[in-house]
Amino acid sequence: MSSGHCMTGKKIILGVTGGIAAYKAVEVASRLRKAGAEVHVIMTRAAQEFVTELTFREITGNPVNTGMWGKVAHWNVEHIALAQMADLVLVAPATANLIAKLSIGMADDMLTTTILATRAPVFLAPAMNSNMFSNPVTQKNLETLRAQGMEIIPPASGHLACGVDGVGRLPEPVDIVARVEEYFCQGQSLKGRKILVTAGGTIAPIDPVRFIGNRSSGKMGYAVAEEAARRGAEVVLVLGVSALPDLGNARTIRVETTEEMRQAVLQEFSDSDAVIKAAAVADYRVKQVAGQKIKKSDDDWSIDLVRNPDILYELGQKKEHQVLVGFAAETQNLMEYAKKKLAKKNLDFIVANDVTMPGAGFQGETNIARLVFRDGRAEEHPMMKKSELACVILDHLEGIFRERCARVE
Ligand code: PMT
Repeated sequence: MSSGHCMTGKKIILGVTGGIAAYKAVEVASRLRKAGAEVHVIMTRAAQEFVTELTFREITGNPVNTGMWGKVAHWNVEHIALAQMADLVLVAPATANLIAKLSIGMADDMLTTTILATRAPVFLAPAMNSNMFSNPVTQKNLETLRAQGMEIIPPASGHLACGVDGVGRLPEPVDIVARVEEYFCQGQSLKGRKILVTAGGTIAPIDPVRFIGNRSSGKMGYAVAEEAARRGAEVVLVLGVSALPDLGNARTIRVETTEEMRQAVLQEFSDSDAVIKAAAVADYRVKQVAGQKIKKSDDDWSIDLVRNPDILYELGQKKEHQVLVGFAAETQNLMEYAKKKLAKKNLDFIVANDVTMPGAGFQGETNIARLVFRDGRAEEHPMMKKSELACVILDHLEGIFRERCARVE
């Protein structure tokens, strides 16, 4: 997996200030663009004495911002628009003057205004004469900015343009871009994977107003889907009956019945890398669903139920490259039943929860689980938040992906 993927489509504001190293910013812009980022350059007045606007325009394919009062690239409040759209602001080179201005919150040009207005991470690559860099005032200013959460890319040492040797050189463009890539790639361990997750309960309608359902809230599967998306996976969440909202960063498909869940899952299965089935699926449906509300009478009432297909069993029969993870919700004989389900449904591992234990199972924020693997290994986990259990499950999934890669190599 190339780390370049992490930068695709990322909107990066490259601030260029007036130092001799400004020419190296051209290569920084070029490398960022080659890595897939959308680069928007803001040049300070002084930077324009060292490099031309035209160079950056050609390299980035975007208009270059050279001042607050000149031509604007977009007809909204320009610095605010740039500040809002940015995924990251990088200033390379960052002069002592810019660092000083930022440390006291000055906003007297397009670059400082944009940085003050943005909520995106700000990376500064200082470059200056080594005495200016080591001056306590500069160091104090950098400390102030670091404390505010800005990332300072340390300058390199070597021969400086002013004729002395020391610390203050702009690091090589390749190293600056590597640091930015590292930022975007961190936590992206499932990038390039498609993960299909089911959550919530399915229902068996009886008539237009009544149904048979179960206690699932959807929280367990939702936590798994959320974490997978956070790790960069393409996530499809097939969500049964649940009060939870659609998941940001993922495609949510809402279903009610087992057959609807089956159709949605089968539709998404072939190109998925893994399926995690946390949904509580109705095993039976009503044989004859009434078209109208059934009127009550003085007699008792019985309903005929017929078996629903077992979706996970069906996936187990079809599976090729996909990793299959099931859940087992039990009220007794947890390990025995979980092991049977693991084998019968041809799963890679199963997450067994005893839903009678306080702090486990339906609706709450926590769960208590045992993970059982194909080779018979079992791993017992204490009570933890469903979001934490989601991390445990996905760590194991990643382990399986890694093992498979190692076997292919
Ligand atoms: O949603 P929450 O309120 O957070 O609660 C979480 C949970 C208790 C629902 C969850 O932790 C859990 O245990 N989910 C599985 C519930 C279940 O249906 O278990 P099961 O043992 O009946 O089924 C075994 C596996 O087969 C499950 O992965 C299930 O999704 C799947 N299955 C079952 C029946 C069926 N017809 N088709 C299926 O795919």
